[in-house]
Amino acid sequence: MKKTNVAIVGCGNISGIYFENLCKVFKNVTVKACADLDPERTAAKVEKYPDVQVATLEAILADPEIEIIVNLTTPQGHFPVAMQAIEAGKSVHNEKPVVLTRDEGKQLLAAATTKGVRVGSAPDTFMGGGIQTCRKLIDDGWIGDPIGAQAFMLCHGHESWHPDPEFYYKVGGGPMFDMGPYYVTALVSLLGPVKRVSGSTRITFPQRTITSAKKYGNKVDVDVPTHVTGIMDFASGAIGTITTSFDVWGSDTPCIEIFGTEGSLSVPDPNTFGGVPRVKRMGADAWSDLPLTHGYAENARGIGPADMAAAIENDRPHRANGELAYHVLDIMHAVHDSSDQGQRIELESTCERPAPLPAGLLKGMLD
Ligand SMILES: NC(=O)c1ccc[n+]([C@@H]2O[C@H](COP(=O)([O-])OP(=O)(O)OC[C@H]3O[C@@H](n4cnc5c(N)ncnc54)[C@H](O)[C@@H]3O)[C@@H](O)[C@H]2O)c1
Repeated sequence: MKKTNVAIVGCGNISGIYFENLCKVFKNVTVKACADLDPERTAAKVEKYPDVQVATLEAILADPEIEIIVNLTTPQGHFPVAMQAIEAGKSVHNEKPVVLTRDEGKQLLAAATTKGVRVGSAPDTFMGGGIQTCRKLIDDGWIGDPIGAQAFMLCHGHESWHPDPEFYYKVGGGPMFDMGPYYVTALVSLLGPVKRVSGSTRITFPQRTITSAKKYGNKVDVDVPTHVTGIMDFASGAIGTITTSFDVWGSDTPCIEIFGTEGSLSVPDPNTFGGVPRVKRMGADAWSDLPLTHGYAENARGIGPADMAAAIENDRPHRANGELAYHVLDIMHAVHDSSDQGQRIELESTCERPAPLPAGLLKGMLD
């Protein structure tokens, strides 16, 4: 099997699981190099993964052996780093959100098409066993025709645990752009693209106080809505609602429920790879827990770029692709635009549902 060389740019909080999985789990990739603005962070990585070289972004861009850049910088770095990767003739997989604005997204996809390289983006959690099992249940008709869906991501923000949480309250952050990608991507992969959106948003606390250790007591001005509710009209006719919030102290709402003509499906947390799908079918007295039909139920972050490498090799579409990520970005912006403008927004973008994963894959394999 060909091993595709990848480089990781951005060695912060989330990078650990990418290093672990791309170095040790996925058999079709090799992490050749890593870069970060902070040399202490790259040094810590190569101490743990000695086969990986410390490099600069410039050296990575100039290395003809590196085919895919995994861009784990903070959201403000997603577009500039990805554009440089594409201009250097490399495919790129960004953490979420893929970029900040629709304009950046369009530029990125157009540049990738011109250069003949691929764009991918987190989240790749929809490729995990939890959502893939739900996909099979829907496609196999367990709940009949989907009528509607509800999604809830309610918490009180990340400043109690993240060492550098400021970016969550700046442009590109907020609960919808931070956590919405998991929920909206899961919904699009389960129900297909969205054609129309409306939304309402608010800022409840204009300033937040960091309570994680490093910056304890520091204040952050809030520049973006922190309580966001959207209604999504899917092209299929299903109607979805989503609420994402950094303003809520507690909630018992489910992550995602999908309602069909013949039953309801409770979808596990789309910010994880596993979980227990539950169904309550027409005539049933109670919900039933269902076993997973697919693997990758543990934290498999990195499955997106590994799938991109396999897709390039096997000449097929990759699942966590730029069109899907752009459509999700468009939906999230449209929720905010609708609130600002006081009207429903017809979406210009659409995408294909990403292909389901085959059941029974060996660990570390994608095809
Ligand atoms: N922390 C999480 O739990 C989590 C989970 C899922 C996704 N994400 C996403 O992952 C991304 C990174 O989040 P994080 O929590 O790891 O942030 P972080 O601040 O801990 O790490 C980001 C790293 O990128 C580096 N960086 C920034 N710009 C760079 C550039 N131009 N070149 C090289 N390095 C650069 C920074 O020095 C930093 O080390 C974000 O987009 C976030 O939304 C984070």
